[in-house]
Amino acid sequence: MTKSKIRWGILGCGRIARKFAADLQLVTDAELVAVASRKKETAEVFTNEFPCKHVHGSYEELVNNPDVEVIYIASPHSHHYEHTLLCLNHNKAVLCEKAFAINSRQAKEMIELAREKKVFLMEALWTKFLPHYNKLLELLKNGTLGDIKAVLVNFGFRTGENAPQRLLDPALGGGTLLDIGIYNVFMTLSVLGKPDKIEATMVPAVTGVDEQLSVLFKYNNGAMAQLFSSFTTNLPTKMEIAATKAGLTLTTRFYEPSAAIQLYHEVKGERKLIEFEKEAGFGYQYEARHVNECLKKGLTESPVMTHADTLLLMETMDDIRKIAGIKYAVD
Ligand SMILES: NC(=O)c1ccc[n+]([C@@H]2O[C@H](COP(=O)([O-])OP(=O)(O)OC[C@H]3O[C@@H](n4cnc5c(N)ncnc54)[C@H](OP(=O)(O)O)[C@@H]3O)[C@@H](O)[C@H]2O)c1
Repeated sequence: MTKSKIRWGILGCGRIARKFAADLQLVTDAELVAVASRKKETAEVFTNEFPCKHVHGSYEELVNNPDVEVIYIASPHSHHYEHTLLCLNHNKAVLCEKAFAINSRQAKEMIELAREKKVFLMEALWTKFLPHYNKLLELLKNGTLGDIKAVLVNFGFRTGENAPQRLLDPALGGGTLLDIGIYNVFMTLSVLGKPDKIEATMVPAVTGVDEQLSVLFKYNNGAMAQLFSSFTTNLPTKMEIAATKAGLTLTTRFYEPSAAIQLYHEVKGERKLIEFEKEAGFGYQYEARHVNECLKKGLTESPVMTHADTLLLMETMDDIRKIAGIKYAVD
């Protein structure tokens, strides 16, 4: 058992870092001790909002800070590989934002280094720690749904002129798949597993990355899944599952704690809305609590979001990209 509070650092002071820092305040056994930005002034502005002991003007300073136990990597996906290796090489535990890397080759190297160094590493796939996601798994496991025949899942919003640059910039891993389509893939893998066949096609943005992407998963048992992601239009951002005994919809923003489960029982003809108690915060506190538990137990891999889960997700996205023609320089 380590000391009662786990001492966190944050690498990169952008949008998601702010939300994560806010939620970390809800984790009783966590303390934000350091933040790092490429520019000291940016880190200083961040700490006006989220005060902490150490304010670093470089990521190198952060990884060399002996006060820091675990680092939350909040840089663009294009930099997760480099920043994770930097942290692990300094024996810092890592919670790395999604997409974990640009491709599975990078992901494998990151995981291999964590194993070699015996340092904790987990992908920040926060949905996996939310109550509605766990309820969905329970409904599958206890046989309420029966066998899944079809999954329809979509995630889309119109980015508009003020969109963050990283969303469409190939150098920053832009495109719908790695940013939002990843949730469609993750949820489908969670309920149906690895597909036997994939079809995929995309519409490129002017920058060449996918601004709309349509993916089809086929399974040898007859199940199919349709996954759609878009930066050009607002989609319901729901997930529908149709199975032999019952069906369900994960309501709007299926990946967030605000989602509810609308269950309908085919045989009994019953409908039921399962809602979840709302905790304060955005919902990132669940994954942070889990990381704390893992660190206190001395684990180097999460038993919930495992390295195998991350690799399957990355490999499936590699396959989708190959079929749809989505390429990055590091490929
Ligand atoms: N889990 C979720 O719900 C969720 C939601 C949104 C985003 N994300 C993920 O979080 C990551 C960051 O997304 P974000 O929306 O927070 O992005 P963002 O606002 O652009 O912030 C990214 C930060 O990364 C740092 N950075 C380091 N190298 C950079 C480079 N070459 N170019 C630009 N920034 C660089 C910058 O911080 P400094 O200037 O301080 O160094 C920047 O502020 C992405 O991988 C994204 O997929 C996850």
